[in-house]
Amino acid sequence: MTTFPDGFLWGAATAGHQIEGNNVNSDWWAREQMMPGMELSGDAVDSYHRYREDIQLLADAGLTSYRFSLEWSRIEPVRGHFSKAELAHYRRMIEFCLELGVTPVVTLQHFTTPQWFAALGGWDGPEAEALFCAYVEQACTILDGVEWVATMNEPNMQAAIMTAMRHLAASGGEWTSPTVEADGDDEKKQTHSEFLTYADPEIGRLFTRIHHAARAIVRERTGAKVGWTIAAGALTAAPGGEEKLLQIRYGKEDVYWEGSRGDDFVGVQAYSSQQVDANGLVPHPPHSDNTLVGTAFRPDSLAMAVRHAWEVSEHTPILITENGIATADDAQRIRYTTGALEGLAGTIADGIDVRGYLHWSLLDNFEWGHWEPTFGLIAVDRDTFARTPKPSLAWLGEVAARNGLEATEVAA
Ligand code: FCB
Repeated sequence: MTTFPDGFLWGAATAGHQIEGNNVNSDWWAREQMMPGMELSGDAVDSYHRYREDIQLLADAGLTSYRFSLEWSRIEPVRGHFSKAELAHYRRMIEFCLELGVTPVVTLQHFTTPQWFAALGGWDGPEAEALFCAYVEQACTILDGVEWVATMNEPNMQAAIMTAMRHLAASGGEWTSPTVEADGDDEKKQTHSEFLTYADPEIGRLFTRIHHAARAIVRERTGAKVGWTIAAGALTAAPGGEEKLLQIRYGKEDVYWEGSRGDDFVGVQAYSSQQVDANGLVPHPPHSDNTLVGTAFRPDSLAMAVRHAWEVSEHTPILITENGIATADDAQRIRYTTGALEGLAGTIADGIDVRGYLHWSLLDNFEWGHWEPTFGLIAVDRDTFARTPKPSLAWLGEVAARNGLEATEVAA
């Protein structure tokens, strides 16, 4: 059997906007109404009211940790007005986890911001840091007994969106190849044509400043370990793509792994892998094993991401805060996760400090404008909100109970 370290966390992750429903004050809620082709989050899967059932299912399966996010737009629907009732709601979630012996991993900001914050310029706005910090101070009042806090989820994806939006605005709404600074060196400026391929490293430095300010608040006011969670692309160079790989990966990832130096942990989130050639990201061809979001079936991407994060973060302890697959075939989910965990065990055997594995996601949910990609260990009927655990939930619970993978699972 392949075993994991004592005390290793086994769990599943979610995010407020994707499961709660009716987050009417968030910027994403507004975006969904405006963007052609986007489906609405609506009631989502009503986990706002059904969180006890969801956490109970997780605990009953044998998982020991639940990652979820606080919804800033619920807690501060109007600038400076903090809702005691919403804070109490999230406190009840934390207490329910603790009662069940489930370790809560709390994300303070998972992609969404309040509409009023977006109207002030969002993360680019002059008061962004102070505004976020004021919210973080309030959030800290309910974190008693919480051991793991992530300030932000995937600021690097948020930066890629911001980079694309800036470019769109500058080009009058038409998508052309933007020019993005590579690594502070003007001479390395290059162009590309793919939406969300690039993130401006300057935005990474902005996020790092804000993250460090929030980190100081969490450290001062709570006993939690604090870090942030980063989207890892597990990018590799095709022949001739070595320089381009460094350029893309710096703004999109490495500036964030660097920003996690000095954190108590860094959240690694990996799903697939992609090649970079001299022109940029190499599109992945259609294949029968492709996921529902069109990415390649690459369970090995998790270990690749962990090794890269460990190196660039200069050995910051790692928590896998997301890993999973969009598939309608639950057997493929188990196959994927088995491969990912096998690779993860290899990184631990090599001395990398990995503290736990949180699968994305506990529930089928609202995948940022789309309902089709199902990542959940639990299916949800969106009319009745009935939950139906998939075989993968019981399977992951058994892995958790054994704290390891059986040899037969690894071979299969
Ligand atoms: C990550 C997000 C998460 C979910 C998964 C599939 O980028 O953090 O909310 O959408 O991808």
